[in-house]
Amino acid sequence: MLRPLHNSISREEIAQWLKDERPANLDGLWRAADEARRVGVGVEVHLRGLVELSNHCVRTCAYCGINAGNRDLPRYRMTFGEILECAREAVSLGYGTVVLQAGEDYGLERDWVSSIVRRIKVDTPLAVTLSLGERPQGDLAAWRDAGADRYLLRFETSNRALYDVLHPGRRGVRSDRFAILAALRALGYEVGSGVMVGIPGQTYDDLARDVEVFREIDLDMIGVGPYIPHPSTRLAQLAAQLHADDRRHAPNTEEMTYKVIALTRIVCPRANIPSTTALATLNRTEGRELGLQRGANVIMPNLTPVKYRALYEIYPAKACLYESAGDCGACVTARITSIGRKVGGGRGDSPNSLARRHAPAVGKENGR
Ligand code: 5AD
Ligand code: FES
Repeated sequence: MLRPLHNSISREEIAQWLKDERPANLDGLWRAADEARRVGVGVEVHLRGLVELSNHCVRTCAYCGINAGNRDLPRYRMTFGEILECAREAVSLGYGTVVLQAGEDYGLERDWVSSIVRRIKVDTPLAVTLSLGERPQGDLAAWRDAGADRYLLRFETSNRALYDVLHPGRRGVRSDRFAILAALRALGYEVGSGVMVGIPGQTYDDLARDVEVFREIDLDMIGVGPYIPHPSTRLAQLAAQLHADDRRHAPNTEEMTYKVIALTRIVCPRANIPSTTALATLNRTEGRELGLQRGANVIMPNLTPVKYRALYEIYPAKACLYESAGDCGACVTARITSIGRKVGGGRGDSPNSLARRHAPAVGKENGR
């Protein structure tokens, strides 16, 4: 028997929900998530314009199409002027945030990134989000000083053994994204993370643990998207072995993604949760809308110049590949209003972070 959905739901109950396929129960889950979204973050959908700065990457993540081992992919890096132009476009399209994302590319040097962040902050009212991989602490600190507001780094899966298979260390150092997330928070960033759903080898219990981790680590933004196999990756080859038809493994389906989004909303009512492009890739007709109706409150329309889009191929056949920035913005706005929601004004800071800012600092309270 399923208990009513509540923020205190246990890992076992989350796993049960992930396995439940009864339509009436799922209707209840979608409704509970939508209500938690309404109460937690309201009717507004915030738009974050995404600029894919560079597809160079030094890492060899097993699932990602732009991994360093993919020699077939032509590489690009946008110029300062091109990036600034995208930021201006974000302003003219009414977005509150620009997200600068790239592979882990050390050709994007610390000072160069600082100067582009500083310039965007001086020239525009935009919030600046960075998503540039596992960069050293010095880089993250410099960019925060330059004015960057937020940083996105998904932990991808909380199953440590699976994580290690997917993310080989660099220069002999084991990858530890939870440590980096803590460092980002200490630097004063709003912090976003997230996972992929249906990674080969990922069980229902692993996903339930991911949702539990979201509740534990106090994130401002939580991105959840389906894993989509890319032929030029190690994982596409490994998958057959890892999946092996094990019934404990969660599938990388549209429905499983909605379930994780819905349960995430229920345990983190005040987080910003995007309806992701990967989800729209599985259902171009109404994936974005269904994501928004099952817990999500953010969309990240693409601002990358169309000539670079196809080269930022982290997974194949991405949605919004050929639409200009303006077309993608208009499409997103139409989708939002078609389901009775409103495009958010302003920067769309996370209610979590606002609460943190206004809370009396621990320590001060005790007179220390
Ligand atoms: N399928 C789905 N999502 C992917 N990402 C990377 N590769 C894939 C893939 N093959 C996601 C990761 C990463 C984000 C930028 O894109 O979760 O953090
Ligand atoms: Fe990008 Fe429709 S959401 S074109």
